Amino acid sequence: MPVCDLDKRAPRGMKALGLDVVVWWDKNENEWKVFDDRCPHRLAPLSEGRIDQWGRLQCVYHGWCFGGSGDCKLIPQAPRDGPPVHSFRKACVGVYPSTVQNGILWFWPNTDPQYKDIINKKKPPYIPELDDPSFLVQWFTRDLPYGYEVLVENLLDPSHVDREGGTPIDISIQKMGKDGFIATEHSYRTWTFVSPCLVQASPIIKESPNNTQGKLAQNPPRKQLVIFFCTPVKLGVSRLIIANSRNFSLWIDPFVPRWMHHIWQNLIIDSDLYLLRVQEEKLMAAGLSNWNKVCFVPTKADTIVALYRTWLKKYAGGQFDWGTKFNGSLPPIPPREQLMDRYWTHVVNCNTCAGAYKGLNALHVFLQVLSISLVAIVAATKQGVISVAARTTLAMAAILCIIGSKWLSWFIYKKFHFHDYNHAFK
Ligand code: FES
Repeated sequence: MPVCDLDKRAPRGMKALGLDVVVWWDKNENEWKVFDDRCPHRLAPLSEGRIDQWGRLQCVYHGWCFGGSGDCKLIPQAPRDGPPVHSFRKACVGVYPSTVQNGILWFWPNTDPQYKDIINKKKPPYIPELDDPSFLVQWFTRDLPYGYEVLVENLLDPSHVDREGGTPIDISIQKMGKDGFIATEHSYRTWTFVSPCLVQASPIIKESPNNTQGKLAQNPPRKQLVIFFCTPVKLGVSRLIIANSRNFSLWIDPFVPRWMHHIWQNLIIDSDLYLLRVQEEKLMAAGLSNWNKVCFVPTKADTIVALYRTWLKKYAGGQFDWGTKFNGSLPPIPPREQLMDRYWTHVVNCNTCAGAYKGLNALHVFLQVLSISLVAIVAATKQGVISVAARTTLAMAAILCIIGSKWLSWFIYKKFHFHDYNHAFK
């Protein structure tokens, strides 16, 4: 999760790799913590709890409190003069090793104490530009109703972006190994996959000779990166984190709020969402290991997708290993409105969109109240008390408020809940 979308005041429940975790800010150690979202007492989710005044994570079911190391600090029901049951190992919560790198909170998916210091040895993939102050980074997160494999494959597919005026794409593979692969497209864009979660498309925006006439080219050169972090959440569900990063035209940013970027980003995701979910179902029915047999990929444009499937088969058994967590069958496809929902998959997890949603809803209510008040004033005012022109103006203002509130209601639903993307009418 990007740290900018976490709230230090409250624990947050999340799912990743089939694990239920709770993320919370430990003000005593000044760090984010990732715990097993399960109270050792009677298994209530700690994410439903709170941070108490001493900065401890408190389970709200019976009030047990936990410190940043998972140690139980307080069992309110234990007598003070009785045995120190809170210090027993069974009273502790599982702690996942975690770190913040590149503005993202990462965790190692095992609470066994032997992995306590694993983060020092196995670092998440590092992108220097995301920490470079000369770069602007825009974060976006959304949970998607298709699996990690389909998500990564989709992101590594350059030809689906330009499907209308598509042309042959020349792709060459630079290298492949256990840790991922690199391929180049027409030698102007590099596609990188870093195992197990990172996809990077890095076009270099070259300074045109015209640009440099009369003024100096930007130094260092203009650069734009689109970095995708892909997390398996559970079978048939994945989480996408996008970091859009550039070192030019930074002046635009204050004029375009983050939530407006997210409307555009959600639209792009929605454009493929339904078809990817159906594609996944067909692939599961055919058997993931039969990808080569059921898909026909005769052009070079599919090179990176085929390379990813080869990598997946060679190094990861063809798919993410869920162990015994799931029985292998996807849940049925829900109605489109539910499948393409933006509110629960994005808005509630994004500080900026949640704020914009609240603000626009408040404006919607304000316009409704104002329109009713204006109508009431016009109706209650006898002719002669105010001029005809004033009455007409008030009536017009009431009509405008009604139109504005109707439009706002449509806008909020379409941009923050559900946009039924139809390719036939685009
Ligand atoms: S279940 Fe958490 S305190 Fe009882």
